[in-house]
Amino acid sequence: MVKPKVFATHSLFDAARKILHDNCDVEYWTQPERPPREEVLKRIKDKEGLICLLTEKVNEELLQAAPKLRIAANVAVGFDNIDVAACTKRGVLATNTPGVLDETTADFAWTLLMAVARRLGEGDALARSGNWKGWDLDQLVGTDVWGKTLGLAGFGRIGRAVARRANGFRMRVIYTDAVRAPAEVENELRAEFMEMTALLAEADFISVHVPLLPETRGLFDASKFSRMKATAFLINTSRGPVVDENALVAALESNKIAGAALDVYEKEPIIHPGLKRPNVVLAPHIASASLETRTKMACMAAENVIALFEGRRPENALNPEVLKV
Ligand code: DGY
Repeated sequence: MVKPKVFATHSLFDAARKILHDNCDVEYWTQPERPPREEVLKRIKDKEGLICLLTEKVNEELLQAAPKLRIAANVAVGFDNIDVAACTKRGVLATNTPGVLDETTADFAWTLLMAVARRLGEGDALARSGNWKGWDLDQLVGTDVWGKTLGLAGFGRIGRAVARRANGFRMRVIYTDAVRAPAEVENELRAEFMEMTALLAEADFISVHVPLLPETRGLFDASKFSRMKATAFLINTSRGPVVDENALVAALESNKIAGAALDVYEKEPIIHPGLKRPNVVLAPHIASASLETRTKMACMAAENVIALFEGRRPENALNPEVLKV
């Protein structure tokens, strides 16, 4: 039997390769750098499946170059790199990897929050520098986390996982979202719903957990920063373009807010030079990067591909209307 041809833009993990091995003829991109666009377009020509990362754009150009394509399986929950409408028009199924990365991403939002509050980046640099002269009373004093108010912009699976951790810090949790959570969720997480304007005024830490959509692009702009407390911090593990980086830099420079901790950027991998400040903690988009979670994400993408080719309904279809099963 002829196996369907698949291009994977990464070598993936062994566990995912095992899933694919028996049922697909997979060509893996194995080089350490991401594949150049021309290479993706060339390799996709005769393929029925694509397993891609969030760094690859699945758009009209790619779809045109791939007349046989039936599925584009993203190894990420965010899918702003995929033009789902264009996929649907061509009958290509798009899938993502929801659920498996929520807890790991929430852990990392907390890592960033704690690091910026307690000035860990500066402390680490000082400890390594050879210039540390010993303990001092006012050395690298940060701000307490426990007992403060955590504001969540976005209260989906990841926002809720972040909220769950806040209870251990005896924090007040407030959130805003387009849709209010059911009362039992609010009660369980001791989270209070409010409009964005009130949240901006009350939160000591604002952690962003919204998908990138036309309505969330530039959501955190100059007007939002001007409403935050001068002692507050912004944490972003969602998508870079949700924050207007020029406005964030201006807010930091004018002390409108106390600091920021970021995992994602407007034009990755470029980082706005104005963000390279002591009161900003920077990470290179690694919130979901535990071996366990990244392996699960790759396996989930592989399962989606296998399901489609076996005539089953892939679990994580973004445009299920293209499916006949
Ligand atoms: C995602 O899945 O969308 C993250 O940004 C990477 O894990």
